[in-house]
Amino acid sequence: MKSSKDIKVQETFPEGFLWGGATAANQYEGAYNEDGKLPSVADVQPHGVFGYPDRSAKYYPTHKGIDFYHHYKEDIAEFGAMGFKVYRTSVAWSRIFPTGEEDQPNEKGLEFYDKMFKELKDNGMEIMITISHYEMPLHLADKYGGWKDRKMIEFFDKFVTVMAKRWKGIVKYWLTFNEIGNNIHKMEWMTAGIDPTTSTLQDNYQASHHQFVASSMAVKTIHEIDPDAKVGSVIEYKTIYPMSCDPKDSLVVTTEKQRGYFFSDVQIRGEYPGYAWEYFKDNDIEIEYTDEDMELIKNYPVDFLSFTYYRSRIASKDYLESVQKETNSSDKEVEGDTSYRGDDNILNTGKTNPYLELTPSGWSVDPDGLYLALEDLYGRYQVPIFIAENGLGVKEELIDGTVNDTYRMEFLRDHIISMKKAIRNGVDLFGYAWWGPIDIVSNGSGQMSKRYGFIYVDRNDAGEGTLKRYRKKSFYWYKKVIASNGEDLEIDK
Ligand code: BG6
Repeated sequence: MKSSKDIKVQETFPEGFLWGGATAANQYEGAYNEDGKLPSVADVQPHGVFGYPDRSAKYYPTHKGIDFYHHYKEDIAEFGAMGFKVYRTSVAWSRIFPTGEEDQPNEKGLEFYDKMFKELKDNGMEIMITISHYEMPLHLADKYGGWKDRKMIEFFDKFVTVMAKRWKGIVKYWLTFNEIGNNIHKMEWMTAGIDPTTSTLQDNYQASHHQFVASSMAVKTIHEIDPDAKVGSVIEYKTIYPMSCDPKDSLVVTTEKQRGYFFSDVQIRGEYPGYAWEYFKDNDIEIEYTDEDMELIKNYPVDFLSFTYYRSRIASKDYLESVQKETNSSDKEVEGDTSYRGDDNILNTGKTNPYLELTPSGWSVDPDGLYLALEDLYGRYQVPIFIAENGLGVKEELIDGTVNDTYRMEFLRDHIISMKKAIRNGVDLFGYAWWGPIDIVSNGSGQMSKRYGFIYVDRNDAGEGTLKRYRKKSFYWYKKVIASNGEDLEIDK
């Protein structure tokens, strides 16, 4: 006879847990036209406007970012000093293939990443690369309308093959598309290079299909070139609560969740789920695909799931109906967290959750929502999970050469407690990346003043400043947390 008493519960973070941070090339590298790089879709997004290209604006925050391109050594040394075990970032596609259509890659672009990756390795970090993080060569968006066109699959595969060969044994983790998912309906330009003023649901889902095929092809290519590398999916996850105990509100939650699960279901389970075909039928969406596409999707699912988590939202049947009436059933607007564009409020009900505090930019602070997310996703997929992003962005001032950001430590502490609880409950969580360990340009607003970092960068929203870096108080705290593998969460006030 055996006893459950002999079963070991994983009481805390497993040994080798990957603590670290995450960034994206277009939000911090700068050097947007150096060493052969040509513009990407991100390089025509002006400050203050999100998701829309504008080629006549005066100021584009991504052009200089925080000039990581010329500061990478010093910045990586700081990540190393915090004890990072993993660093997630992206490779700017237009550094490697400036237009996307060249036959040969741009050697100078590859060399930059060679040097940067060496620095990361020397500082003790595993490297996790997002292949496409809200950018692609501008040329591909202009000439082909982005991912609407099937040809994108070929261009992407060429990019993936070059990287997988070059960084075999160096990059251990690859992520195919940042936040593949519903974001395509509210950030068509960044996610897929689709003109947001004319896009349709049809375009967006066709583009997603092309990305699914490209993602599976990337899994195949990377595994063939480097059998030890792991390839994951990144979805955006916001925990959704029903507004009330009216079962109709829970039905809305289920439908909303399916809109999001769709992307991970295809990438992990290897097939289109039944509710997707139903949705396409009901919304008159016609996806063109080949049998080979579906074979590829089936045979090459991702190895692990990662997700970004910042906040939760609520859904209600009344709100859904009122929006459907107003917008003449435009599913696009019902689905989209429209407030996100303006970055002023959080919930697609137009109401805030009375049980949760909000950040100054109106995002709910919900560590329990992270626990629920982990339970939900692990319960659904049973594959290893990595938290690709989580963080707190606020306006901050440098006082006496530092920022006393106790609120950031509290935010992180509470999310770590949720992670620990999920691990104890059997969730296979293998790592966590804080978003923006150094202040970078906000993706949503183009602001520098929405600061997430443990390191402050002297640069303002107008692009002025010395670019000098300063450690915030949270720098030392995160270092202690990592050194104790998540055990020492004490905050000295
Ligand atoms: C994630 C994106 O959704 O949110 C990042 O992957 C982004 O690119 C992050 O920066 C935080 O959002 P924001 O708008 O505050 O930069």
